[in-house]
Amino acid sequence: MPAELVCFEASCRASYPITEVIYTCPRCGGLLEVISREPLPDPAELRQLWRSRRLSNSPLDQSGVWRYRELLAFLEDYSPVVSLGEGNTPVLEAPRAARWAGLDRLAFKHQGFNPTGSFKDNGMTCGVAQAIRLGMRRVACVSTGNTSASMAAYASAAGLQPIVFIPHGNIAFGKLAQALEYGAITFQVEANFDQILALVRVLAERLGIYLLNSINPFRIEGQKTIMVELLDQRDWRVPDWIVLPGGNLGNTAAFGKGLRELLAAGLIPRLPRLAVIQAEGAAPFYELFRRGEGKLEAVRNPETLATAIRIGDPVSWPKALHEVCTTNGLVEKVSEQEIADAKAIIGQCGIGCEPASAATLAGIRKLRQSGVIAPGDDVVAVLTGHLLKDPDYIHRYHTSDLRTPSGQRLVSRYANPPRVVPCDPDKLAGLLEELRSE
Ligand code: F0G
Repeated sequence: MPAELVCFEASCRASYPITEVIYTCPRCGGLLEVISREPLPDPAELRQLWRSRRLSNSPLDQSGVWRYRELLAFLEDYSPVVSLGEGNTPVLEAPRAARWAGLDRLAFKHQGFNPTGSFKDNGMTCGVAQAIRLGMRRVACVSTGNTSASMAAYASAAGLQPIVFIPHGNIAFGKLAQALEYGAITFQVEANFDQILALVRVLAERLGIYLLNSINPFRIEGQKTIMVELLDQRDWRVPDWIVLPGGNLGNTAAFGKGLRELLAAGLIPRLPRLAVIQAEGAAPFYELFRRGEGKLEAVRNPETLATAIRIGDPVSWPKALHEVCTTNGLVEKVSEQEIADAKAIIGQCGIGCEPASAATLAGIRKLRQSGVIAPGDDVVAVLTGHLLKDPDYIHRYHTSDLRTPSGQRLVSRYANPPRVVPCDPDKLAGLLEELRSE
């Protein structure tokens, strides 16, 4: 076997065959990770190989995940792979956002350009490949929306049956619409994300359904290629900071693993610092990091308008903590108002994103103001989801009707409301004169 499942807990490190259907260590309950035993070619050869695949028309080479398959050595052959053209997401310079945050320069790695509009696609192509390889017929996840959209698409494309569990009334409409359209059996459960995850873990075990939450280590393998692609796009120049939102903390775990593997392979000379940003009302990882010791204490009723990261008991916290510490990184939290402001600024850049993604820019601004990030630092923020995922939030913001979960109205500092006008050329010409921008 080219790879094994290994317990992430340093005191355990038990290993299991790669084809065992387990999500946590049967011995100690720890999280599992995929460890490859395959030696890698030398870095110059890998860089050259990966670059040359960009000219290929094979779906495997065109995928921004499977292009880097030397780092995804868990399959014996690639016949189970279903690609929808995931990855290949742009790195976008954003001078206006940089100015707003107090930086000389800022770039966004925009995962919203994925086939279902979020970074989940990077991981899902791997998770679904593993499901097929194991002979699974049904796959399930609990989700704040994006995982379910992605799983529904990849499972349906692969001929598997997707079963989605979402918190009733608390996911963005675009995401629910995707799950339905891609043909998932969709259950809206009267509970929050953390409660539903516990439910689904029991059900998956009882009914032999394959679980595709980020506790699934094959999802993490796919998501780690976001870092590989980013470094490839930057010709392997390492930024000072990589900033990302934190919810269930799978992405933090994935980015850290990817970066460590790049370092070990000699593809980068040092690690960038990971800065994880949480929403104030759902910030258990921030609290853990600030305390500096002990275990994560769950937030029982997490609340944020950034529904993607409305998670109080993130499963991947031990991995995420390890990665933040290994990269000399940190965790910050931001308010609903800060997220709303940052999101509008990202929109004004012509880029746009969903609310959870905007936590990055809000966090960068805060870390600039406190002097942690310097103006000249080389910063990349990862925008995790597409603008159109949550149109309701946008409409409310621009019509000055956005309220926090506790009912407090947010200030729509950068509102751009639609205007109702008569069908009258003179009035419109006058109005447009008033609104002329410099
Ligand atoms: N940003 C977006 C847009 C997300 O959808 C998520 C997570 C995150 C950030 C946080 O990533 O969980 O790896 O720390 N969404 C999951 C879901 C939980 O169900 O779609 P994380």
